[in-house]
Amino acid sequence: MPDASDTSPIWGSRFAEGPDPLFFAYGRSVDWDRRLAPQDIRGSIAHVHSLRAAGVLEGQIAAELEAALVGLLEQVTAGKGLAILPEDEDVHGAVERLLGPIGGYLHAGRSRNDQVALDFHLYCKGAAEELAAAVQEVEAALLTLCERQGDKIWWGMTHLQPAQPVLVAHHWLAYFWMFERDRQRFLWAANQADRSPLGAGALAGSGIPVDPSLAAAELGLGAVYENSMDAVSDRDFALDLGHAAATAALHLSRLGEEIVLYASPAFGLIELPDAFSTGSSMMPQKKNPDGGELLRGRAGRVLGAHLGLMTTIKGLPLAYVRDLQEDKEAVFGIVDTTLAGLRLAARMLPALTLRGASVPHGDLSLATDLADHLVRKGVPFREAHHIVGKAVQAALAEGGDFDRLDEAAWLAISPHFTQEALADLLDPDLAPSRRGVSLGTAPQQVAAQLALARKALG
Ligand code: ARG
Repeated sequence: MPDASDTSPIWGSRFAEGPDPLFFAYGRSVDWDRRLAPQDIRGSIAHVHSLRAAGVLEGQIAAELEAALVGLLEQVTAGKGLAILPEDEDVHGAVERLLGPIGGYLHAGRSRNDQVALDFHLYCKGAAEELAAAVQEVEAALLTLCERQGDKIWWGMTHLQPAQPVLVAHHWLAYFWMFERDRQRFLWAANQADRSPLGAGALAGSGIPVDPSLAAAELGLGAVYENSMDAVSDRDFALDLGHAAATAALHLSRLGEEIVLYASPAFGLIELPDAFSTGSSMMPQKKNPDGGELLRGRAGRVLGAHLGLMTTIKGLPLAYVRDLQEDKEAVFGIVDTTLAGLRLAARMLPALTLRGASVPHGDLSLATDLADHLVRKGVPFREAHHIVGKAVQAALAEGGDFDRLDEAAWLAISPHFTQEALADLLDPDLAPSRRGVSLGTAPQQVAAQLALARKALG
């Protein structure tokens, strides 16, 4: 039986010569899959229990094996890491070698194929839960921002052109709901990973009569795969996590873009704190929004890795194939990058100063309000649109806003545009209150929306 100093591949005996060094290095995954050591060892402890329950391991050996595994787990969770050797191919082989001769009993009824799938399920489930919690921090930061600085008014835009005045809180709450959907997607992804492939063996099902539900329950997994071939080759749960992360990274990117854009003096809507700004090595006056730019830029890595993994998997035949080893670097990168972005956003958002009140009295963005007024007076909307379009043309000819038109000009445009009506209609501070529909920007609806958001956050 091999001992811990035996560094030949665990599958080596049928070969007359060892692997070519370049080929071995190309396939060696231990540098990154060692990250799965805690999951791998916990899975092995559960497997020892299954083997003992199946009567395959006698009590004394099972106890020794478990003690050795627990020792390794303590070492790993204490941050000491595994003592990897250059000859270790992957985390599974390294753990087996480090167990010493007793490790030889461990792999009855289990293959690295169901083992690595199990490790990855446990990792993805934990990562999805961690990402959901990190998203929650971003959501909380957005709520703080809206509650503290949300009562101002600025232009809501379409096509990045002034459209209609909105409450600043209404604008940023849109991001809250994006991230709330992200959080639900992460929780769903955690649920997709909540399934145990143990018992599949290499592909056809374990030849040892283990009860797969025992190990699943011990590992806190809610279900067992129905089909062993699916169990060893399925990476849908990793793609589900990747999709959730890619969507969250995409939201972080849009958020980063708005921070960059609105912090520009050309917009002047956001003041960045010094702590989240950078300077220029040449231009002494510069204050740059690199945080927003990096949120925007780094999303590319997440989207690329997710697409890369889908591309890796799309043509694979059943059951296990080595291509599947590519899943880990992709998903680790996706998780690390998304987590870091979420943490930065949660820290940066409450530090922003949001400016408002950049909508002047009589601003052209009140045009829809004027048209709606005519509709309330019985004018068909298309005609109202046409009439107000003429008012816009006249205002532009006079220098730019509705305040340039006098009483006679307004009455010539429509008898419904009395001075009394216009006093309200041309006041931008009153515009949001006219959007009282449940999902609108009226202050009382935004207050209700904030309460809903608080409730969603729990
Ligand atoms: N390092 C491998 C992976 O990540 C483990 C499974 C290897 N199985 C095999 N039959 N070569 O996929």
